[in-house]
Formats: sequence, structure tokens, C-alpha cells
Amino acid sequence: MGSRTVKVVVTGATGQVAYALLPRIAAGEMFGPETDVDLRLADIPQMVEKAKGTIMELEDGAYPLLSRVSAGSDRAETHRDVDWALLVGSLPRGPGMERGDLIRKNGPIFVEEGRAIAEHAGKNVRVVVVGNPCNTNCLIARSAAGSAVPDDRWTALTRLDQNRARSLVAAKAGARVRDVKKLVIWGNHSATLYPDFTNGYVGAKKITDTVDRTWLESEFLTAVQQRGAAVIAARGASSAFSAAQGVVDHVRSLMSPTAADDWASVAVVSDGSYDVPQGLVSSFPIRVAGDGWWEIVQGVQLDAFANAKVRATVAELEKERDLVQDLIAGKTAA
Ligand code: LMR
Repeated sequence: MGSRTVKVVVTGATGQVAYALLPRIAAGEMFGPETDVDLRLADIPQMVEKAKGTIMELEDGAYPLLSRVSAGSDRAETHRDVDWALLVGSLPRGPGMERGDLIRKNGPIFVEEGRAIAEHAGKNVRVVVVGNPCNTNCLIARSAAGSAVPDDRWTALTRLDQNRARSLVAAKAGARVRDVKKLVIWGNHSATLYPDFTNGYVGAKKITDTVDRTWLESEFLTAVQQRGAAVIAARGASSAFSAAQGVVDHVRSLMSPTAADDWASVAVVSDGSYDVPQGLVSSFPIRVAGDGWWEIVQGVQLDAFANAKVRATVAELEKERDLVQDLIAGKTAA
């Protein structure tokens, strides 16, 4: 079938996000119809029996592109030679919690993940951190991996927030989601995230020329920042298939050239762009060139409102970093 095989590990494989994600990877939605998938389901030892049920379902789907599927809790096996590590496994937040409240519980998991990736993954591995707080968990894993895995391989998920923002603006403007462009997330996947409407478009018009700015600065901003909590309050559980959709979109965006009139939101290791301290994992507008590699879009103008919002979310990332100093191995400058 496929002309190549991609090896993918999904951690937290028995959780809800993974349950929504795995069949879509198996069906070729992430890596395309030309690529076979060797899918590794990773979870803690007490969940491996349950993962076998998911394996049965994946087998029962008879996915033509699924060349191999396995489950385990030994990272030396599940992470061996992987091209992509989708790090979903972590404790989710409950009602009334902020994602940052999970930091001391989930941080240590990402030390283990980072070490395992450095030790066992393929040499071109690319990592997507989904478990919350995903930016700082990514920072922890990146740091634990050391120099074996370069900065440009590490990413965290803010595409879910971008999708949320674009849906809200499209609905307000009476447009289709596909017409909303360059509306990207800056900073943390948290209640301080900033969906930058000042540089976004609906069709050929700037968002700010289409939609009331007061709404954008107030209700819209709060709705995007609080959407994860709103889903938890309504569903009694955190978002699952929309998060999986975000992961599919995130990986696809990183593998194909970005449309000339658009950008993608990806949290990446800062190189100091826009005065985001080097080493922090922050969401930026990203472009992928024809060679399949990403860059932070430079020269984006941030007005006083936008700049204040970016500074606030970056300050929160610095605070999170300071809370996990003990989990961060040397590399990241304070
Ligand atoms: C989301 O944004 O829905 C997820 O990060 C889950 C959460 O805790 O909000």
C-alpha cells in the first residue's frame, strides 16, 4: 500500500484523546494515503490490558495502511525508532482546575518521556506534547532529552485553540471557518493564551474590519481562553475528539507547506523571537516551507493591545518554568 512507513507512538493510549486519535491515524488522516503506519500504544502497566481492547478494535477496522500495531508500558519498546512521539499521557484537569495546577503531577512524566525519546526514538523524531500543561511539559521533556534531540523537533499543541478561535470568528462574521486566515495563538495553552485577531483575516478583509473590536477584545478572547474549561463543565470530562482533531491538524501542518495566505499555531522552543525568552515553549505563527521544515514568521506587527497580551502569556510561561526548575536539566537559561 504505502510507499513508506512511519513509526508513531501515542502515549496515554487508553485515554479519551487517544481513543479519538488512534483510528484516525490508522485511517491515514495524519500521514496521508501513501504512508503505512506502525502504531505503538504506550500506557502505564495497569492499562496495558485495556490497550489490548483498543488493539482489537484497530485490527477490526481492517485499516489498509496499518502495517503493525502493538501496546506496552516499556518505553524501550514503544518508543524504539519512532518518527513521531505524540505525548498525550498525563492526568487531565477536572472542573475548577487550571491546566497549570497539574504541573507538579504531570511534570515528572515528561522527564521520563524526554529521556526515553533521547535514548530510543529515531534520529529524526518529532514530538508533539498534548498532556497539560503542554507548553511546560514540552519544555521539561525537551530539557530531559539533552542535546541528542535538537530544539526544532519539540512542539506542543495550540492548534485546538486556533481551531476554536477560527470557529468563533467565522460564526460571528457569518463566514466559513476555511475563510478565516492568519488567526493564530501566541503563548501558553492556558487561560492567558492570546488569539491574535489583529493580524487575522476573514476572506480578503482584516478580522478587525469585519467584526466588532470590542467583542474581539472581551467575549471572544475570554471564550477562547476558557473553552477547555467550558467543555469540562458541560461534558464532565475534558475535550477529546476536538483535541484529537487539533493533533491531526498540527502534524499535517508541520508536514506540508503552509498556504501563502495563512499561518499555523504551533508551540515551539523559542529562539528569542518577539522577545520570548529563549528556550520557553511558546506558541507563535509558524510557516512551513517547501522543504517541510518550519520557521517562526518574523515581522508580525503587534499593536499595544496585542503586545500586552503576548507579554502576559509569556510571563505565565516564565512562572511555570520557575515552578519546575528542579525538573529542568541545565539546558534552559533562566
Ligand atoms: C482543552 O483545551 O480542552 C484541553 O487542554 C483540556 C483542558 O484541560 O482544557
